[in-house]
Amino acid sequence: MKILAIETSCDETAVSIVENGRKIITNVIDSQIDKHKIFGGVVPEIASRMHIEKITACVKEALISYPECETEALNSNLGCADTKLHELKELDKIDAIAVTYGPGLVGALLVGLAFAKGLAFATNKPLIGVHHIEGHIAANYLEHKDLKPPFLCLVVSGGHTHLVDVITYTKFNVIGKTKDDAVGEAYDKVARTLDLKYPGGPKVDRLAKEGNPDSIKFPRAMINDGFDFSFSGIKSAVLNYVNAEKMKGNPINKADVAASFQKTVVDILTHKTIKYAVENNIKTLVMAGGVAANSGLRSQMSKMASENNITLFYPSLSLCTDNAAMIGSAAYYNFLDGIQSTQSLNATPSLIVGQKPLVGFF
Ligand code: KG4
Ligand code: ZN
Repeated sequence: MKILAIETSCDETAVSIVENGRKIITNVIDSQIDKHKIFGGVVPEIASRMHIEKITACVKEALISYPECETEALNSNLGCADTKLHELKELDKIDAIAVTYGPGLVGALLVGLAFAKGLAFATNKPLIGVHHIEGHIAANYLEHKDLKPPFLCLVVSGGHTHLVDVITYTKFNVIGKTKDDAVGEAYDKVARTLDLKYPGGPKVDRLAKEGNPDSIKFPRAMINDGFDFSFSGIKSAVLNYVNAEKMKGNPINKADVAASFQKTVVDILTHKTIKYAVENNIKTLVMAGGVAANSGLRSQMSKMASENNITLFYPSLSLCTDNAAMIGSAAYYNFLDGIQSTQSLNATPSLIVGQKPLVGFF
């Protein structure tokens, strides 16, 4: 089964074709980062407008980069821009249309959703709404062909920090989540404090390698307090530290700040995740989301997992951050479980993991 998946929940216009939930056929990602950079973060209105400008071209590109493209117009060099979407013969090879319907920026979600609904209606193909976080978890199925539930998953991204019991491909139990900021959000804010450009996570990660992680003591909020998380305190603690040092006229060692911040958040994430796995005798652990690309988190989680005889999986860097292939994978397993959406599917900006779209059939 080949699913064409669309993801527009934030600042990436992404379209992918995925076969049987496990194999990526094409994966198009048009990132808007350069546009948002100058504002220090994603501007929702700009994101929506750029999705509108790019979505048709991205869907066409995903279809024409299908191996052995058969569309005559393209083969006779007319090019993508001159070819109408409905003229692309590759569309006939698609069995269903999947789309992220939440959580995310409502205007951004609506662009992908309206496009997917229109495409599903015009081609008379099933529509499958996908939860963005369930997509992040499914990114692992694309890379680790033998991985299957049950397992424990730590989802860490710009908008989410969730510890999730993945019971089946479509059943989830949230063990813990952030009470305030997501860990990726804390990374981006700390980056801003250190004058690093958006998105700051990868830059803080790189800088942290040059600093002393034990040089500054930041608070480890809620570390021994259940499985929920809190990251707004550390974000403010970093800002207060930098301001206080500046007022004293001391030079700021940015690498030390980055390394100490990273050590603190990695300690919190790994401590809670491994504690839950050990207490519940869980032997398979998975990480997902943009912050799962973090080198400190990867190495400490790997070390602690192996010390406790736990097998750890995480996606390659490009599948950690937002993409549509992960949505195509999650959609496949939804479809196998009879989960489809109707034309009344709406964007749901704050969607709880496990909450399902309206179930219905064409
Ligand atoms: O999953 P994602 O692409 O989007 C959301 O669903 O939110 O995650 C983006 C987040 C950003 O906050 C970015 O700074 C963070 O992931 N990120 C990282 C790294 N790479 C991306 N954070 C820390 N270290 C990294 N290497
Ligand atoms: Zn995401």
